[in-house]
Amino acid sequence: MDKSNRRAANAATLQQELRWLSDVIQTRLDMQLRHERRSPIEDVFEIAPPELDSEDSMYASFVAHYEMGFGERLTALLALAPHVQPQLLDLFFQTNERLNRGYTEWGGVQGKMHGGFLPTGETALFLIAGEDLDSRFEHQRLFDADHFFARHNILKLEPAPSGEPILSGRLVMADEIIDFLTTGEFRKPDYSRDFPAKLISTEMEWDDLVLAPTTLEQIQELEAWIRHERVLMEDWGLARRLRPGYRCLFYGPPGTGKTTTASVIGKRVGRDVYRIALSAVVSKYIGETEKNLERIFGRAENMNCILFFDEADALFGKRTSISDAHDRYANQEVSYLLQRIEDFPGVVILASNYTTNIDEAFMRRFQAVVHFPMPDPAERKRLWTASFSKQSVLDSTLRLDDLAQKYELSGGAIINVVRYASLMALDADTNVIRSADLVGGIRRELQKDGKTL
Ligand SMILES: Nc1ncnc2c1ncn2[C@@H]1O[C@H](COP(=O)(O)OP(=O)(O)OP(=O)(O)O)[C@@H](O)[C@H]1O
Ligand SMILES: [Mg+2]
Repeated sequence: MDKSNRRAANAATLQQELRWLSDVIQTRLDMQLRHERRSPIEDVFEIAPPELDSEDSMYASFVAHYEMGFGERLTALLALAPHVQPQLLDLFFQTNERLNRGYTEWGGVQGKMHGGFLPTGETALFLIAGEDLDSRFEHQRLFDADHFFARHNILKLEPAPSGEPILSGRLVMADEIIDFLTTGEFRKPDYSRDFPAKLISTEMEWDDLVLAPTTLEQIQELEAWIRHERVLMEDWGLARRLRPGYRCLFYGPPGTGKTTTASVIGKRVGRDVYRIALSAVVSKYIGETEKNLERIFGRAENMNCILFFDEADALFGKRTSISDAHDRYANQEVSYLLQRIEDFPGVVILASNYTTNIDEAFMRRFQAVVHFPMPDPAERKRLWTASFSKQSVLDSTLRLDDLAQKYELSGGAIINVVRYASLMALDADTNVIRSADLVGGIRRELQKDGKTL
Protein backbone atom coordinates (compact mmCIF):
# COMPACT_ATOMS: atom_id res chain seq x y z
CA MET A 1 0.00 0.00 0.00
CA ASP A 2 1.39 3.42 -0.83
CA LYS A 3 1.52 6.32 1.60
CA SER A 4 -1.73 8.03 0.62
CA ASN A 5 -3.71 4.77 0.58
CA ARG A 6 -2.42 3.93 4.00
CA ARG A 7 -3.33 7.35 5.29
CA ALA A 8 -6.81 7.08 3.80
CA ALA A 9 -7.30 3.64 5.38
CA ASN A 10 -6.23 5.03 8.76
CA ALA A 11 -8.60 7.96 8.41
CA ALA A 12 -11.56 5.74 7.47
CA THR A 13 -11.08 3.46 10.48
CA LEU A 14 -10.58 6.33 12.89
CA GLN A 15 -13.74 8.06 11.65
CA GLN A 16 -15.77 5.06 12.74
CA GLU A 17 -13.88 4.64 15.97
CA LEU A 18 -14.32 8.27 16.95
CA ARG A 19 -18.04 8.00 16.28
CA TRP A 20 -18.07 5.06 18.65
CA LEU A 21 -16.12 7.03 21.27
CA SER A 22 -18.58 9.86 20.88
CA ASP A 23 -21.53 7.48 21.40
CA VAL A 24 -19.94 6.08 24.52
CA ILE A 25 -19.28 9.53 25.94
CA GLN A 26 -22.82 10.69 25.19
CA THR A 27 -24.30 7.58 26.77
CA ARG A 28 -22.13 7.74 29.86
CA LEU A 29 -22.99 11.41 30.38
CA ASP A 30 -26.68 10.70 29.86
CA MET A 31 -26.49 7.90 32.40
CA GLN A 32 -24.82 10.10 34.92
CA LEU A 33 -26.88 13.20 34.40
CA ARG A 34 -30.00 11.02 34.42
CA HIS A 35 -31.12 12.55 31.21
CA GLU A 36 -33.79 10.96 29.22
CA ARG A 37 -32.08 7.96 27.59
CA ARG A 38 -31.83 8.14 23.85
CA SER A 39 -31.69 4.37 23.71
CA PRO A 40 -32.67 1.55 26.01
CA ILE A 41 -29.02 0.87 26.78
CA GLU A 42 -28.13 -0.23 30.32
CA ASP A 43 -24.40 0.26 30.17
CA VAL A 44 -21.78 1.63 27.79
CA PHE A 45 -20.41 -1.88 27.27
CA GLU A 46 -23.47 -2.60 25.19
CA ILE A 47 -22.33 -0.12 22.58
CA ALA A 48 -20.30 -2.45 20.44
CA PRO A 49 -17.13 -1.03 18.93
CA PRO A 50 -16.87 -1.08 15.12
CA GLU A 51 -15.93 -4.32 13.43
CA LEU A 52 -12.38 -3.95 12.12
CA ASP A 53 -11.72 -7.37 10.60
CA SER A 54 -11.87 -6.17 7.04
CA GLU A 55 -10.03 -2.90 7.71
CA ASP A 56 -6.52 -2.50 6.40
CA SER A 57 -5.44 0.36 8.64
CA MET A 58 -2.66 0.72 11.20
CA TYR A 59 -5.27 1.18 13.89
CA ALA A 60 -6.96 -2.09 12.96
CA SER A 61 -3.69 -4.00 13.10
CA PHE A 62 -2.82 -2.28 16.37
CA VAL A 63 -6.11 -3.43 17.93
CA ALA A 64 -5.68 -6.95 16.55
CA HIS A 65 -2.03 -7.22 17.56
CA TYR A 66 -2.70 -6.46 21.22
CA GLU A 67 -6.11 -8.17 21.18
CA MET A 68 -7.44 -4.99 22.74
CA GLY A 69 -10.57 -5.17 24.86
CA PHE A 70 -13.29 -2.57 25.30
CA GLY A 71 -11.53 -0.57 28.01
CA GLU A 72 -8.19 -0.61 26.24
CA ARG A 73 -9.63 0.49 22.96
CA LEU A 74 -11.65 3.26 24.57
CA THR A 75 -8.65 4.52 26.52
CA ALA A 76 -6.39 4.56 23.48
CA LEU A 77 -9.00 6.46 21.48
CA LEU A 78 -9.56 8.91 24.28
CA ALA A 79 -5.83 9.61 24.37
CA LEU A 80 -5.80 10.06 20.61
CA ALA A 81 -8.91 12.24 20.38
CA PRO A 82 -7.33 15.62 21.33
CA HIS A 83 -4.86 15.12 18.47
CA VAL A 84 -7.37 14.23 15.79
CA GLN A 85 -10.82 15.51 16.76
CA PRO A 86 -10.49 17.68 19.85
CA GLN A 87 -14.00 19.12 19.64
CA LEU A 88 -15.37 15.65 20.33
CA LEU A 89 -14.40 16.10 23.96
CA ASP A 90 -16.11 19.48 24.36
CA LEU A 91 -19.07 17.65 25.91
CA PHE A 92 -16.98 17.48 29.05
CA PHE A 93 -17.03 21.24 29.43
CA GLN A 94 -20.52 21.29 30.97
CA THR A 95 -20.81 22.80 34.41
CA ASN A 96 -22.39 21.13 37.35
CA GLU A 97 -25.11 23.69 37.96
CA ARG A 98 -25.64 22.68 41.52
CA LEU A 99 -22.02 23.53 42.35
CA ASN A 100 -21.33 26.00 39.60
CA ARG A 101 -18.13 24.24 38.56
CA GLY A 102 -17.05 21.34 36.38
CA TYR A 103 -17.75 17.72 37.25
CA THR A 104 -14.94 16.29 39.37
CA GLU A 105 -15.70 12.76 38.23
CA TRP A 106 -14.99 13.59 34.60
CA GLY A 107 -11.38 14.42 35.31
CA GLY A 108 -9.55 16.25 32.55
CA VAL A 109 -7.32 19.30 32.47
CA GLN A 110 -6.83 22.28 30.24
CA GLY A 111 -3.73 22.75 28.15
CA LYS A 112 -1.44 25.77 28.05
CA MET A 113 -2.10 26.40 24.39
CA HIS A 114 -4.63 23.76 23.46
CA GLY A 115 -8.11 25.19 23.94
CA GLY A 116 -9.88 21.86 24.28
CA PHE A 117 -10.33 19.27 26.98
CA LEU A 118 -7.37 17.05 27.76
CA PRO A 119 -8.46 13.72 29.26
CA THR A 120 -6.87 12.28 32.39
CA GLY A 121 -6.89 8.77 33.84
CA GLU A 122 -10.02 9.82 35.69
CA THR A 123 -11.79 10.58 32.42
CA ALA A 124 -10.95 7.13 31.04
CA LEU A 125 -12.17 5.30 34.13
CA PHE A 126 -15.29 7.41 34.32
CA LEU A 127 -16.21 6.47 30.76
CA ILE A 128 -15.50 2.80 31.32
CA ALA A 129 -16.77 2.30 34.85
CA GLY A 130 -18.98 5.22 35.80
CA GLU A 131 -19.61 4.89 39.52
CA ASP A 132 -19.04 1.13 39.63
CA LEU A 133 -16.06 0.87 41.98
CA ASP A 134 -15.34 -2.77 41.24
CA SER A 135 -15.13 -2.08 37.53
CA ARG A 136 -13.02 1.00 38.25
CA PHE A 137 -10.51 -1.03 40.26
CA GLU A 138 -10.44 -3.69 37.59
CA HIS A 139 -9.66 -1.14 34.89
CA GLN A 140 -7.02 0.72 36.87
CA ARG A 141 -4.63 -1.95 35.66
CA LEU A 142 -4.67 -0.18 32.30
CA PHE A 143 -2.15 2.15 33.90
CA ASP A 144 -0.01 -0.46 35.62
CA ALA A 145 3.65 -0.68 34.76
CA ASP A 146 3.24 -4.18 33.37
CA HIS A 147 0.29 -3.41 31.13
CA PHE A 148 1.32 -3.37 27.44
CA PHE A 149 0.44 0.34 27.30
CA ALA A 150 3.36 1.08 29.61
CA ARG A 151 5.65 -1.77 28.63
CA HIS A 152 5.59 -0.77 24.98
CA ASN A 153 5.54 2.96 25.64
CA ILE A 154 2.17 3.38 23.98
CA LEU A 155 0.44 5.56 26.50
CA LYS A 156 0.73 6.49 30.11
CA LEU A 157 -0.49 8.87 32.75
CA GLU A 158 1.59 11.93 33.34
CA PRO A 159 2.80 11.82 36.94
CA ALA A 160 0.46 13.77 39.20
CA PRO A 161 1.92 16.15 41.81
CA SER A 162 2.82 14.40 45.02
CA GLY A 163 -0.20 13.66 47.19
CA GLU A 164 -2.71 14.00 44.37
CA PRO A 165 -4.52 10.98 42.94
CA ILE A 166 -2.54 9.14 40.28
CA LEU A 167 -5.57 9.19 38.02
CA SER A 168 -5.49 12.98 37.86
CA GLY A 169 -2.49 12.60 35.54
CA ARG A 170 -3.04 13.52 31.93
CA LEU A 171 -3.48 10.63 29.52
CA VAL A 172 -0.63 10.88 27.04
CA MET A 173 -0.06 8.78 23.98
CA ALA A 174 3.49 8.54 22.64
CA ASP A 175 4.08 10.83 19.65
CA GLU A 176 5.28 8.03 17.44
CA ILE A 177 2.17 5.95 18.15
CA ILE A 178 0.02 8.94 17.16
CA ASP A 179 2.01 9.19 13.94
CA PHE A 180 1.68 5.49 13.32
CA LEU A 181 -2.09 5.47 13.79
CA THR A 182 -2.79 8.62 11.78
CA THR A 183 -0.44 9.48 8.91
CA GLY A 184 1.26 6.09 9.15
CA GLU A 185 4.65 7.77 9.04
CA PHE A 186 7.02 8.58 11.85
CA ARG A 187 8.05 12.15 12.31
CA LYS A 188 11.65 12.22 13.33
CA PRO A 189 12.02 13.86 16.71
CA ASP A 190 13.88 17.15 16.79
CA TYR A 191 16.78 17.90 19.02
CA SER A 192 15.54 19.92 21.95
CA ARG A 193 15.94 20.25 25.63
CA ASP A 194 13.34 17.53 25.99
CA PHE A 195 14.94 15.29 23.47
CA PRO A 196 18.71 15.74 23.61
CA ALA A 197 19.41 13.32 20.78
CA LYS A 198 20.32 14.14 17.23
CA LEU A 199 19.75 12.10 14.13
CA ILE A 200 23.11 11.46 12.48
CA SER A 201 23.82 10.34 8.96
CA THR A 202 26.77 9.93 6.65
CA GLU A 203 27.57 10.04 2.98
CA MET A 204 30.13 7.29 3.52
CA GLU A 205 29.57 3.67 2.56
CA TRP A 206 30.83 0.44 4.02
CA ASP A 207 33.72 0.28 1.52
CA ASP A 208 34.90 3.73 2.56
CA LEU A 209 35.59 2.60 6.10
CA VAL A 210 39.19 1.73 6.81
CA LEU A 211 39.12 -0.53 9.84
CA ALA A 212 41.49 -3.01 11.42
CA PRO A 213 40.52 -6.66 10.73
CA THR A 214 39.40 -7.43 14.31
CA THR A 215 37.36 -4.22 14.45
CA LEU A 216 35.71 -5.16 11.18
CA GLU A 217 34.86 -8.63 12.42
CA GLN A 218 33.13 -7.28 15.50
CA ILE A 219 31.19 -4.77 13.46
CA GLN A 220 30.01 -7.59 11.22
CA GLU A 221 28.85 -9.51 14.27
CA LEU A 222 26.84 -6.50 15.42
CA GLU A 223 25.24 -6.25 11.99
CA ALA A 224 24.46 -9.96 12.01
CA TRP A 225 22.66 -9.47 15.30
CA ILE A 226 20.55 -6.65 13.90
CA ARG A 227 19.66 -8.66 10.82
CA HIS A 228 18.89 -11.95 12.52
CA GLU A 229 17.73 -10.91 15.97
CA ARG A 230 14.08 -11.70 15.37
CA VAL A 231 14.70 -15.18 13.99
CA LEU A 232 17.26 -15.98 16.66
CA MET A 233 15.14 -14.83 19.56
CA GLU A 234 11.70 -15.87 18.36
CA ASP A 235 11.94 -18.67 15.79
CA TRP A 236 14.97 -20.28 17.38
CA GLY A 237 13.57 -19.62 20.82
CA LEU A 238 16.67 -18.07 22.39
CA ALA A 239 14.58 -15.30 23.91
CA ARG A 240 14.20 -17.47 26.98
CA ARG A 241 17.93 -17.49 27.60
CA LEU A 242 19.20 -14.23 26.15
CA ARG A 243 18.67 -10.72 27.36
CA PRO A 244 16.99 -8.75 24.58
CA GLY A 245 18.98 -6.05 22.82
CA TYR A 246 22.63 -5.56 21.98
CA ARG A 247 24.96 -3.34 23.95
CA CYS A 248 28.22 -2.41 22.45
CA LEU A 249 31.17 -0.23 23.45
CA PHE A 250 33.33 1.48 20.82
CA TYR A 251 36.56 2.80 22.29
CA GLY A 252 39.62 4.37 20.79
CA PRO A 253 41.40 7.66 20.15
CA PRO A 254 39.61 10.64 18.58
CA GLY A 255 39.10 10.50 14.83
CA THR A 256 39.39 6.74 14.42
CA GLY A 257 35.91 6.35 12.93
CA LYS A 258 33.61 5.46 15.84
CA THR A 259 30.86 7.91 14.98
CA THR A 260 31.23 7.29 11.25
CA THR A 261 31.01 3.52 11.72
CA ALA A 262 27.84 3.83 13.78
CA SER A 263 26.22 5.93 11.02
CA VAL A 264 27.29 3.51 8.32
CA ILE A 265 25.85 0.57 10.25
CA GLY A 266 22.51 2.39 10.58
CA LYS A 267 22.48 3.16 6.89
CA ARG A 268 23.22 -0.45 5.97
CA VAL A 269 20.55 -1.98 8.16
CA GLY A 270 18.02 0.79 7.47
CA ARG A 271 17.73 2.16 11.00
CA ASP A 272 18.03 5.72 12.21
CA VAL A 273 20.96 6.45 14.47
CA TYR A 274 20.47 9.01 17.25
CA ARG A 275 23.53 10.53 18.87
CA ILE A 276 23.35 11.65 22.47
CA ALA A 277 26.30 13.55 23.88
CA LEU A 278 26.42 11.95 27.27
CA SER A 279 28.58 14.52 29.00
CA ALA A 280 25.97 17.16 28.24
CA VAL A 281 23.13 14.99 29.46
CA VAL A 282 24.85 14.13 32.71
CA SER A 283 25.97 17.60 33.66
CA LYS A 284 23.78 20.19 32.01
CA TYR A 285 20.51 18.47 32.63
CA ILE A 286 21.28 17.46 36.14
CA GLY A 287 18.14 16.33 37.90
CA GLU A 288 16.38 16.33 34.55
CA THR A 289 18.53 13.56 33.18
CA GLU A 290 16.30 10.67 34.06
CA LYS A 291 13.30 12.32 32.49
CA ASN A 292 15.21 13.15 29.34
CA LEU A 293 16.82 9.76 29.04
CA GLU A 294 13.49 8.09 29.61
CA ARG A 295 12.06 9.98 26.70
CA ILE A 296 14.95 8.97 24.50
CA PHE A 297 14.77 5.31 25.45
CA GLY A 298 10.99 5.25 25.12
CA ARG A 299 11.01 6.72 21.66
CA ALA A 300 13.96 4.68 20.53
CA GLU A 301 12.14 1.52 21.49
CA ASN A 302 9.06 2.30 19.44
CA MET A 303 11.03 3.63 16.53
CA ASN A 304 13.45 0.76 16.40
CA CYS A 305 16.45 3.02 16.04
CA ILE A 306 20.04 2.74 17.20
CA LEU A 307 21.12 4.83 20.18
CA PHE A 308 24.65 6.15 20.01
CA PHE A 309 25.86 7.55 23.33
CA ASP A 310 28.90 9.64 22.57
CA GLU A 311 31.48 10.92 25.04
CA ALA A 312 30.63 8.07 27.34
CA ASP A 313 33.85 8.67 29.31
CA ALA A 314 31.71 10.23 32.00
CA LEU A 315 30.61 6.70 32.82
CA PHE A 316 34.08 5.30 33.30
CA GLY A 317 35.37 7.86 35.71
CA LYS A 318 35.71 6.89 39.34
CA ARG A 319 32.21 6.59 40.58
CA THR A 320 33.06 6.18 44.22
CA SER A 321 34.50 9.49 45.28
CA ILE A 322 31.66 11.83 46.00
CA SER A 323 32.71 15.33 46.85
CA ASP A 324 29.48 17.27 46.68
CA ALA A 325 25.80 17.06 45.93
CA HIS A 326 26.44 17.54 42.24
CA ASP A 327 28.64 14.43 42.17
CA ARG A 328 26.12 12.47 44.08
CA TYR A 329 23.49 13.39 41.54
CA ALA A 330 25.79 12.50 38.69
CA ASN A 331 26.53 9.17 40.35
CA GLN A 332 22.87 8.36 40.70
CA GLU A 333 22.28 9.27 37.13
CA VAL A 334 25.12 7.15 35.89
CA SER A 335 23.73 4.15 37.76
CA TYR A 336 20.32 4.86 36.38
CA LEU A 337 21.68 5.13 32.88
CA LEU A 338 23.60 1.87 33.13
CA GLN A 339 20.53 0.09 34.36
CA ARG A 340 18.42 1.58 31.63
CA ILE A 341 20.94 0.62 28.98
CA GLU A 342 20.91 -2.92 30.29
CA ASP A 343 17.13 -3.09 30.15
CA PHE A 344 16.85 -1.56 26.70
CA PRO A 345 15.70 -4.15 24.17
CA GLY A 346 17.29 -2.44 21.16
CA VAL A 347 20.78 -1.60 19.93
CA VAL A 348 22.86 0.77 22.06
CA ILE A 349 26.37 1.83 21.16
CA LEU A 350 28.52 3.73 23.64
CA ALA A 351 31.58 5.54 22.36
CA SER A 352 34.55 6.62 24.41
CA ASN A 353 38.13 7.79 24.12
CA TYR A 354 38.94 6.06 27.36
CA THR A 355 41.53 3.39 26.81
CA THR A 356 43.05 2.49 30.14
CA ASN A 357 41.62 -0.43 32.04
CA ILE A 358 37.89 -0.13 31.89
CA ASP A 359 36.25 -1.69 34.91
CA GLU A 360 35.66 -5.41 34.37
CA ALA A 361 32.22 -5.35 35.92
CA PHE A 362 31.45 -2.65 33.46
CA MET A 363 32.74 -4.63 30.48
CA ARG A 364 30.51 -7.57 31.30
CA ARG A 365 27.46 -5.49 30.55
CA PHE A 366 28.39 -5.35 26.89
CA GLN A 367 27.89 -7.96 24.20
CA ALA A 368 30.84 -6.48 22.36
CA VAL A 369 33.71 -4.20 23.28
CA VAL A 370 35.17 -2.94 20.04
CA HIS A 371 38.56 -1.30 19.88
CA PHE A 372 39.15 1.37 17.25
CA PRO A 373 42.95 1.57 17.20
CA MET A 374 45.03 4.23 15.44
CA PRO A 375 45.39 3.12 11.82
CA ASP A 376 48.63 1.33 10.85
CA PRO A 377 50.75 2.58 7.92
CA ALA A 378 48.89 0.46 5.35
CA GLU A 379 45.54 1.73 6.62
CA ARG A 380 46.83 5.30 6.62
CA LYS A 381 47.85 4.87 3.01
CA ARG A 382 44.28 3.85 2.15
CA LEU A 383 42.91 6.81 4.09
CA TRP A 384 45.22 9.27 2.34
CA THR A 385 44.40 7.82 -1.05
CA ALA A 386 40.67 7.94 -0.53
CA SER A 387 40.58 11.42 1.03
CA PHE A 388 41.81 13.66 -1.79
CA SER A 389 39.34 15.00 -4.32
CA LYS A 390 39.53 13.53 -7.81
CA GLN A 391 39.65 17.14 -9.03
CA SER A 392 43.04 17.69 -7.43
CA VAL A 393 46.49 16.31 -8.21
CA LEU A 394 49.44 15.89 -5.93
CA ASP A 395 52.63 17.86 -6.28
CA SER A 396 55.10 15.56 -8.04
CA THR A 397 57.41 15.51 -5.02
CA LEU A 398 54.70 14.03 -2.77
CA ARG A 399 54.57 10.29 -2.05
CA LEU A 400 51.54 9.07 -0.15
CA ASP A 401 53.54 5.98 0.90
CA ASP A 402 56.00 8.24 2.66
CA LEU A 403 53.30 10.28 4.37
CA ALA A 404 51.56 7.12 5.53
CA GLN A 405 54.79 5.64 6.88
CA LYS A 406 56.03 8.76 8.55
CA TYR A 407 53.07 10.35 10.33
CA GLU A 408 50.96 8.58 12.87
CA LEU A 409 47.64 10.26 12.20
CA SER A 410 44.04 9.13 12.65
CA GLY A 411 41.52 9.09 9.81
CA GLY A 412 39.97 12.22 11.26
CA ALA A 413 43.34 14.02 11.32
CA ILE A 414 44.09 12.94 7.75
CA ILE A 415 40.79 14.34 6.48
CA ASN A 416 41.58 17.61 8.27
CA VAL A 417 44.99 17.82 6.60
CA VAL A 418 43.43 17.11 3.22
CA ARG A 419 40.87 19.83 3.75
CA TYR A 420 43.51 22.34 4.76
CA ALA A 421 45.90 21.58 1.89
CA SER A 422 43.03 21.54 -0.64
CA LEU A 423 41.77 24.93 0.55
CA MET A 424 45.26 26.37 0.30
CA ALA A 425 45.51 25.08 -3.28
CA LEU A 426 42.15 26.58 -4.24
CA ASP A 427 43.18 29.85 -2.65
CA ALA A 428 46.32 29.85 -4.77
CA ASP A 429 44.17 29.24 -7.83
CA THR A 430 45.53 25.81 -8.60
CA ASN A 431 44.41 22.19 -8.34
CA VAL A 432 47.87 21.03 -7.32
CA ILE A 433 48.21 19.99 -3.68
CA ARG A 434 51.52 21.44 -2.54
CA SER A 435 53.96 19.71 -0.28
CA ALA A 436 54.43 22.74 1.98
CA ASP A 437 50.69 23.01 2.65
CA LEU A 438 50.42 19.34 3.39
CA VAL A 439 53.28 19.48 5.88
CA GLY A 440 51.75 22.62 7.41
CA GLY A 441 48.46 20.80 7.85
CA ILE A 442 50.16 17.79 9.39
CA ARG A 443 52.00 20.02 11.83
CA ARG A 444 48.71 21.56 12.94
CA GLU A 445 47.18 18.16 13.52
CA LEU A 446 50.15 16.87 15.47
CA GLN A 447 50.13 19.96 17.63
CA LYS A 448 46.58 19.20 18.65
CA ASP A 449 47.89 16.00 20.21
CA GLY A 450 50.77 17.84 21.84
CA LYS A 451 53.26 16.34 19.37
CA THR A 452 55.67 18.12 17.11
CA LEU A 453 56.76 17.41 13.60
N1 LIG B 1 38.34 4.27 10.07
C1 LIG B 1 38.01 5.25 9.24
N2 LIG B 1 37.71 5.00 7.96
C2 LIG B 1 37.37 6.00 7.13
N3 LIG B 1 37.33 7.29 7.48
C3 LIG B 1 37.62 7.61 8.74
C4 LIG B 1 37.97 6.61 9.68
N4 LIG B 1 38.22 7.21 10.85
C5 LIG B 1 38.02 8.51 10.68
N5 LIG B 1 37.66 8.77 9.41
C6 LIG B 1 37.38 10.12 8.87
O1 LIG B 1 37.51 11.02 9.94
C7 LIG B 1 36.30 11.70 10.23
C8 LIG B 1 36.08 11.74 11.73
O2 LIG B 1 35.88 10.42 12.24
P1 LIG B 1 34.83 10.09 13.41
O3 LIG B 1 34.10 11.31 13.76
O4 LIG B 1 34.04 8.91 13.00
O5 LIG B 1 35.82 9.70 14.57
P2 LIG B 1 35.49 9.31 16.08
O6 LIG B 1 36.24 8.07 16.34
O7 LIG B 1 34.05 9.31 16.27
O8 LIG B 1 36.18 10.50 16.86
P3 LIG B 1 35.83 11.10 18.33
O9 LIG B 1 36.36 10.14 19.33
O10 LIG B 1 36.58 12.38 18.35
O11 LIG B 1 34.36 11.28 18.38
C9 LIG B 1 35.23 10.91 9.50
O12 LIG B 1 34.24 11.77 9.01
C10 LIG B 1 35.98 10.27 8.36
O13 LIG B 1 36.04 11.13 7.27
MG1 LIG C 1 32.82 10.56 17.43
